[in-house]
Amino acid sequence: MTIREETDLYETAGTQTLNQHASVRAFIDKPVPDEMLNAILNAARRSPTSSNMQTYSIIVVRSPETRQRLAELAGNQRHIEQCDVFVGFLADLNRLEIAGEMHGQPLAKSLETTLVATVDAALVGMSVQTAAESFGLGAVMIGGMRNHPQKVADLLGFPPGVYMVYGMSIGWPQAPLGTKSLKPRLPEELIIHHEAYSEDDPRPLIADYDGELAAFYGQRNQHTAAWSGPIASRLNTPRRPHLRQTLEAMGFHFD
Ligand SMILES: Cc1cc2nc3c(=O)[nH]c(=O)nc-3n(C[C@H](O)[C@H](O)[C@H](O)COP(=O)(O)O)c2cc1C
Repeated sequence: MTIREETDLYETAGTQTLNQHASVRAFIDKPVPDEMLNAILNAARRSPTSSNMQTYSIIVVRSPETRQRLAELAGNQRHIEQCDVFVGFLADLNRLEIAGEMHGQPLAKSLETTLVATVDAALVGMSVQTAAESFGLGAVMIGGMRNHPQKVADLLGFPPGVYMVYGMSIGWPQAPLGTKSLKPRLPEELIIHHEAYSEDDPRPLIADYDGELAAFYGQRNQHTAAWSGPIASRLNTPRRPHLRQTLEAMGFHFD
């Protein structure tokens, strides 16, 4: 078998879409048809969900005024305004609580229900991104929605027990997918372990990757610690320290 045949054998429409993924933050002024968006969202709703509980909701925001406010709350991320449609992925305990009430049962909220809802929302969002990219649309996830979870909830009218895990700007990309260079990922050896967690020292491969990423960013000194450096300074103090308190007030438990 030739290398070409072998590559074809292990490439499908699905892996092709995943292999050309790059976050898109620059969009052209062209609408995403409602029917296309519905096809994407409904395909994504086939995503696996913990015990079929479907502990998530999706919110579609097209209003420019609302997206302007969301952009501010996310730290002035302008692509939230410039994209055609913004979609939010919500951890949703509200519906479970109502289902329980229908049977006279309280919902025992715990760390587990918080995790289940957050994971479900994350999974459906990833499916939306892949489905959108399969249509040639560009998208970027927006964790900045967790900067001010209560304000996001107030703006969009969430009931108690609902928070936005992350959002997504979706639109037609300025540069068609597959035409821009892809941000390199950590080497396979650091990510994929076989049978047991690797005992190899990760430092040399991390250093190599630092150089590769520096080159990708066009940094003049290609040995700059382009991955490990920013991570070190980003995570040397807790990020979003208010988060637990805010989410607890919104009805999520961490015990
Ligand atoms: C949960 C999550 C939240 C993210 N939040 C943001 C964000 O707020 N703003 C942004 O510009 N990119 C955001 N991103 C995109 C990442 O920065 C991007 O995926 C990463 O740098 C890898 O680049 P690539 O997707 O182009 O390959 C987020 C990605 C994930 C998975």
